[in-house]
Amino acid sequence: MTVLKIVITGATGGIGSAMALAFAQAGHRLVLVGRNSDELAVLRNRLAQPERHQIMLANLNSAAAITSLATELADIGGVDVLINNAGVAGFALLPEVQDDDLAQMLGLNLLAPMRLCRGLLPLLSASANACIINVGSSFGSIGYAGFSTYCASKFGLRGFTEALQRELADQEIAVHYLAPRAVRTKMNSAAVVAMNAELGNREDEPAVVALAAMRLLTERHSCNRYLGWPEKFFVRLNGLFPCLVAKALKKQLPIIKRYAKQQGDAPLR
Ligand SMILES: NC(=O)c1ccc[n+]([C@@H]2O[C@H](COP(=O)([O-])OP(=O)(O)OC[C@H]3O[C@@H](n4cnc5c(N)ncnc54)[C@H](OP(=O)(O)O)[C@@H]3O)[C@@H](O)[C@H]2O)c1
Repeated sequence: MTVLKIVITGATGGIGSAMALAFAQAGHRLVLVGRNSDELAVLRNRLAQPERHQIMLANLNSAAAITSLATELADIGGVDVLINNAGVAGFALLPEVQDDDLAQMLGLNLLAPMRLCRGLLPLLSASANACIINVGSSFGSIGYAGFSTYCASKFGLRGFTEALQRELADQEIAVHYLAPRAVRTKMNSAAVVAMNAELGNREDEPAVVALAAMRLLTERHSCNRYLGWPEKFFVRLNGLFPCLVAKALKKQLPIIKRYAKQQGDAPLR
């Protein structure tokens, strides 16, 4: 097996830590990126052979922090894989979304992956196994009430990924888009969890997403993976017949609005 040097943003989160555990177990060397050094250290100690993995601190809402991160990664001899996983979600009807929340969500979910891809391309180009995985969402293909800003960020990430796949089609860098459905992590508030239960929207464990990411590491051709059934069907249906999906989602609207009220005035997570 080829040992890869893998950078994971949002490493301390639910999906990030599941990926870190799986990749370390498989023998890869990791760079765990996050904002909280204590949490990163705890995570590193849980990994197989902790001394092989590094920690790098960065608030990815800062362009300067991303530039410094790229320099630090160059200093340690480059990188094979970039996983743009850090993200925030916000559940709120648009009038309740604060200006800061708009900026933070678009900054972290969209601008940061774009800046990281741009900043790390020179390092990735030097690897024979170069790969980027952008973690999107089924909400990157289906506009959903109560998540307009989050959807905008993930639709943007999907468009960016598709364009980059085509821009790099003549190079040996695989660019993947991985779109989970709801996942059991702290990203989802109690109101979102209760709403999903009432609507029958299923949640996956983070390990399911980690396994899908693990499979993408060996995929040499850029690809898009949507997780969960029926979500992956609705992604296709929404692309072809958005009016049908809009009709079905309209029936959910009173329930979504009721839970948005419960969410209160702290929508960003
Ligand atoms: N959970 C779901 O239902 C779901 C569904 C589909 C897609 N996704 C996507 O999966 C990815 C991971 O989500 P998750 O569920 O694992 O979320 P999570 O458990 O809330 O973890 C989010 C991670 O992002 C990091 N982060 C937040 N703000 C940051 C910033 N400004 N700079 C650097 N790091 C920052 C957090 O680190 P700190 O400890 O520093 O805050 C944390 O490690 C996201 O892109 C999300 O959109 C999630």
